[in-house]
Amino acid sequence: MSGGDRNKDLRQAKKLWEWLIKNGVKRDSILISFGGGVVGDLSGFVASTILRGIRHYHVPTTLLAMVDSSIGGKTGINLGRMKNAVGTFWSADKIFIDPLFLLSIDKKNLFSGLVEAIKAAIIGDAGLLDFIERNLNLIKLFDFEVIEKVILRAIRVKKQIVEEDPFEAESRRKLNLGHTLAHAVEAYHHYKIPHGEAVGLGLLYAAKISESYDNDLRTSGFGERMKQLLRQLGLRTKIKAEKKKLFAYMMMDKKNTSGGLNFVLVKKPGLAFISKDVPKKLMLKAMEEVVDEDISD
Ligand SMILES: NC(=O)c1ccc[n+]([C@@H]2O[C@H](COP(=O)([O-])OP(=O)(O)OC[C@H]3O[C@@H](n4cnc5c(N)ncnc54)[C@H](O)[C@@H]3O)[C@@H](O)[C@H]2O)c1
Repeated sequence: MSGGDRNKDLRQAKKLWEWLIKNGVKRDSILISFGGGVVGDLSGFVASTILRGIRHYHVPTTLLAMVDSSIGGKTGINLGRMKNAVGTFWSADKIFIDPLFLLSIDKKNLFSGLVEAIKAAIIGDAGLLDFIERNLNLIKLFDFEVIEKVILRAIRVKKQIVEEDPFEAESRRKLNLGHTLAHAVEAYHHYKIPHGEAVGLGLLYAAKISESYDNDLRTSGFGERMKQLLRQLGLRTKIKAEKKKLFAYMMMDKKNTSGGLNFVLVKKPGLAFISKDVPKKLMLKAMEEVVDEDISD
């Protein structure tokens, strides 16, 4: 199947369920997914549901899938405008990561994948953030030694958090940094914006809100630092959207609980926390940082 979030849907899942049954899938079969996060999320979902669950191996072939989506067992498909609306926790039995797959990746794909590594750095490894900034030119030149280090360190952050809270009861929510806005942006734009690029906008948005809570973070220029990083990667720092509509999509996010929206904020690079009481007024105001109703796309 082709990548792209528009393919991560029930129609593709059904095709795969039917194909597996037609080809004699058994309880001891292993489904091997070979591709980016879309293929991984969808086939993980299919593996977890076919015959009440078979084994799943991942061979991630995008940077995003290597540093993030192949790890931690979240599977899912989108339902209409609701991102990852239906899914399971179903950890891969084995994950085979080979950065050489990145040789055929275009820069846009590589850099939007890098955003998930930047997210991991902000949550749990301030040194990784410095490392990425210091080595940005080498990353842009596809320096494998540097990219491999980024992959290993980002995985370390995710692994530690997932092991601590595999089913996202609390601390794993930190991994959703930037994702509340990102999922709304993806849905608003009919999944035409790469996931990592949408997360980049979400990081700027979270930085803006975090800065309004924390003067030290603001005076350290954290938000501006993030913006520079995204600009250097040629990723969007603003997007066209109607704020109110985008806000309505944010409110639909599946990460929300009946207690309200769980928002991940930054205390300082390497340290994130969850806030349940970001006022609606602040959320709308902070959107001005990343949303422009008048720019062209
Ligand atoms: N499960 C999780 O924990 C988790 C975490 C983060 C993101 N995600 C999900 O991951 C998805 C995004 O993943 P993605 O960025 O990998 O997108 P993707 O899977 O759509 O891949 C992007 C593009 O790269 C192509 N591609 C894949 N490997 C390639 C290679 N080696 N060379 C050339 N082209 C290649 C694909 O065909 C596709 O066109 C989103 O659906 C997001 O929700 C899941």
